[in-house]
Amino acid sequence: TAQQEKYRPQFHFSPKAHWMNDPNGMVFHNGTYHLFFQYYPEDKVWGPMHWGHATSKDMVSWQEQPIALYPDSLGYIFSGSAVVDTKNTSGFGKDDKVPLVAIFTHHNPVLEKQKTGRHEYQSLAYSLDEGKTWTKYSGNPVLPNPGITDFRDPKVSWYEPQKKWIMTLAAKDRIAFYSSPDLKSWKSESDFGTDAGAHGGVWECPDLFPIMHDGKQVWVLIVNINPGGPNKGSAGQYFLGDFDGKTFKSYSKETKWLDFGADNYAAVTFSNTGNRSILLGWMSNWQYANQVPTDPWRSANTIPRELGLKTFGKELYLTSKPIKELDILNGTAFTEKNLMVKGQVDLSKKAGNPTGLFRLDLNIQKVTDFSIVLANKAGNEMIIGYDKATNQFYTDRSKSGKTDFEKGFGVKHTAPRFSTDPNIPLTLIADAASIELFADGGLTVMTEIFFPDQPMSELFLKSVNGVVVSELKYTALKAARNQ
Ligand code: FRU
Repeated sequence: TAQQEKYRPQFHFSPKAHWMNDPNGMVFHNGTYHLFFQYYPEDKVWGPMHWGHATSKDMVSWQEQPIALYPDSLGYIFSGSAVVDTKNTSGFGKDDKVPLVAIFTHHNPVLEKQKTGRHEYQSLAYSLDEGKTWTKYSGNPVLPNPGITDFRDPKVSWYEPQKKWIMTLAAKDRIAFYSSPDLKSWKSESDFGTDAGAHGGVWECPDLFPIMHDGKQVWVLIVNINPGGPNKGSAGQYFLGDFDGKTFKSYSKETKWLDFGADNYAAVTFSNTGNRSILLGWMSNWQYANQVPTDPWRSANTIPRELGLKTFGKELYLTSKPIKELDILNGTAFTEKNLMVKGQVDLSKKAGNPTGLFRLDLNIQKVTDFSIVLANKAGNEMIIGYDKATNQFYTDRSKSGKTDFEKGFGVKHTAPRFSTDPNIPLTLIADAASIELFADGGLTVMTEIFFPDQPMSELFLKSVNGVVVSELKYTALKAARNQ
């Protein structure tokens, strides 16, 4: 129960027990969303990787399923993706059953010890029963290692103009693109990135997909990186550009960050969701993922986010918003208009919400320094704010509860503000052990986990100089029906 598991997320997916990292193979198929994940079912720390499995009808409530993929003689099952092979290009389909095909990295610990530098290669598995059981392809691996130590996390998608599959693969300090007619034989197309983006760590878990913008297709290339994130450790960067089935041409060599918080890693999108690009990340950071004080599980995912594009100044940015399906969690709400916040306004009574699960939508006018403070009777405080002098949003979890499991955890994190709008619209989503901030329509995002001694049942708005909140909506959120 929530009482025994005080840090248990109530509407973010977390496994019942044991270790989880990256979300894998997210795919929509026959009315069901599938989520697979890096999983070690024997301990609460990272170990020989499996693909855990969960299913959902709405991406909000998840049912954990039996493990989908176990390690084998070729290695551990590292991250990857899944596709619905509608045309049965792979030939895995049988009796009109459309195969679900998983494309993943085999990571071979024996070869790793021998330091061959060739211990990672790409393999396939398929399912003909809605993801319940999986058969590994007898011809694995389908993409052998060409001599690159870090060669992993294939994200595969169908490229309709040339009727072929594209694999976007992380290859140490670059992205390698491959193509295939049948998912089994792969041909190198091009590389991207040695002269672009952030290189403070190894490139991992990429994604490539188009989003329509002003009647034109813009290609988004997501590249996760660890370490080297904007607030240390793991983070996701992205590039916007063109893709012609062979080469990705970025509009700019500069990095943009998907999320400036410390806790959104290995984020990639669902496959087969039509025009919607829905992003899901692992809500942790390799800097302390193995030490967070949860029991008997470790880690949760972010909420799913719908991605869009928005121009600000001369720059085009990706925007992230909570998916609309989350509205199913909405409980009692109240609104305020033209609320003057000078000093502090205590919303706790009105909210009357002992669980601390809520969504707060604010529109702040005549912007100066302000903060939103989640608190409790134990004296814990999780602070989310904006600093006018530096034009930055920030989070501060230094007094948020348990922080001593890692020295870098209890610190302040910052994020630039891109919008020049005089008003700041923002949405904050709080679960038992996380906040997700979507500022300026999702232009600046911050995801942070924390571990309070008791639920954050109190909520304050603060501003020394005074801000006017032209609109405020507080919505208590219910727990999802996770099983
Ligand atoms: C990213 C990552 C991937 C790898 C997996 C192993 O968090 O390091 O690159 O496939 O985790 O669990």
